[in-house]
Order: sequence, then structure tokens, then C-alpha cells
Amino acid sequence: MRGVLYYFSGTGNTKWVADKFKSNFSNYNIDLKLINIEDKEQVKNECFKKNDFIIVGSPVYAEFPPKIVCNFLEKIKCENRRIKAIVYSTQAAKSSPAAHFMAQCLKKKGFKIVIQSNIRMPNNYYFSIGKKPTKDNIELLLANSENKIKLIVKKFIDDSVIVESNSELRLHFSKFFCKIFIKKLPKLSKNLTSTDECGKCGICLMNCPQNNITFENGHAIFHSKCMLCMRCIHICPINAIRYKNKKIDQTQNKIINSLNLNK
Ligand SMILES: Cc1cc2nc3c(=O)[nH]c(=O)nc-3n(C[C@H](O)[C@H](O)[C@H](O)COP(=O)(O)O)c2cc1C
Repeated sequence: MRGVLYYFSGTGNTKWVADKFKSNFSNYNIDLKLINIEDKEQVKNECFKKNDFIIVGSPVYAEFPPKIVCNFLEKIKCENRRIKAIVYSTQAAKSSPAAHFMAQCLKKKGFKIVIQSNIRMPNNYYFSIGKKPTKDNIELLLANSENKIKLIVKKFIDDSVIVESNSELRLHFSKFFCKIFIKKLPKLSKNLTSTDECGKCGICLMNCPQNNITFENGHAIFHSKCMLCMRCIHICPINAIRYKNKKIDQTQNKIINSLNLNK
């Protein structure tokens, strides 16, 4: 048996979970190929026919998957047979309607949803919503997530179905909430600035999923295509990127290594 896992991950949480899926499946001698959906070539060249199941993983932005994931789900095609699918979202809260939404998209395409799961991970946007995760919180969240992923893989192997459902009402309201968030993105991205200490190393620019950053007059400039993934803030080697002029503790500094970014 072999599978493919498609993910988007701004600051490493969703990729960290993807890596855990891979290692847990390998314990059952099942090969799981990980594909970052930012890599359009790789997405285009992957052939479902070779795979027995797919997994799609996404972070949650304003209760929903970001647009890059929604666009991917719109384009994905299911080959003739009903391939099994696992969907998971990573978010700061216990749950969100994102996995439910992803499952609906894939079901419409003919995939058979066997697992739909919300995986709680550290909050990478704590400086805007929620609490700042402490080191202890992060360790606990990771340990709990690791156990959950182990269980999911076991259930999948046992042919069980797990659907952590959210109400249709929540999904409905979240769609509305998310539409407002998307409309506000160009304005929200103006909250990002770089300080005079910026060494123009180019790490933020090279790794921005939207190619939204340029250097002008010694500063990183953030244009209007930002999806607010927070990668630039958490990856800057000298922490020179500000949000609303505030210095942000780079709480994702370990987990973000799972992304193997260009340095
Ligand atoms: C712009 C933005 C909006 C977010 N909205 C939510 C939300 O509505 N609910 C939630 O539980 N977490 C929310 N989060 C937290 C992230 O979903 C969470 O930290 C996620 O695991 C990040 O995954 P990544 O590191 O793979 O990008 C938000 C994060 C960002 C950056």
C-alpha cells in the first residue's frame, strides 16, 4: 500500500503533523509521499493511480483553510475508483470547521472520507488572537498530537472511520467570517513591517508562499498579496519583522524547521 499527503504549512505545524503521519505509516511498511502544495510542478506530476489513499492537511485561518488549500481542493481530480481520503486541520483551538469543509470538497470529487480530524497545535498568531503558547504548552500539545496521529493511523489500518464532525451551522457562519477575513487581508498585511536592523538576508523573500516581499531602501516591503501565514515573522534570523510595530516572540522557532526552508 502507498499514499500521498498534500499539505500547506505556513510555520511548520501542519508539516510537523505530516512528518508524524509519514513515520507512523512507515511503521506499517506503508510508503507515504509528502507533497507541499506550494510546489505546483510536483502537484501536477503526482499521479493518483499509483496511490491507494490520499491525505490533505491544512492550517486554519479564520476558521477555514487558507485560499491556497481551497484552490488546490477545487482543482484536485479523483480517478475512476473511490480512493480513501484522510483530512486534517491544525489549529490553536480544539476544533474548527476547516476539516469538515475539506472533507465536503473531496467527497464531491468522489473521494471516500475515512478520517476527518482536528489536530490542536501551537498558536502561531497569538499576538492577534488567543494566548501565547509557553514552552510547556507547546511540549504538551505536541505530545498529545503525536498520540492522536498514532491512533488515527492505527484506525485507518484497521479500516475504521473517524469523523470529528462540526455542525453545519458553525460551517455556515464560519464561511461568512472567513469571507470578511479574506477581504481584509490586503489591509491586514499592512501590519507587517521590517526594522532598520533588517540584514536583507533574503530568507523571508525566498520563502514567502505568495512572493509578496521585496527589498526597497534597505527594508523588506510587504505588498498586498499576503495570506498572513506568519512564516516571515517566525523565520527571520534576527527577528526584525514587526506586526503592528510589535516585536514578536518567535514561538515557532523549533517547529518551523520541519519546513526545510531555503536559507
Ligand atoms: C491568520 C491566522 C488566522 C488563524 N485563525 C485561527 C482560527 O480561526 N482558529 C484557530 O484555532 N487557530 C487559528 N490560527 C492558528 C493556526 O491555525 C495554527 O497555529 C496552525 O497550526 C498553524 O499551522 P502552520 O504552522 O502549519 O501554518 C490562525 C493563524 C493565522 C496565522
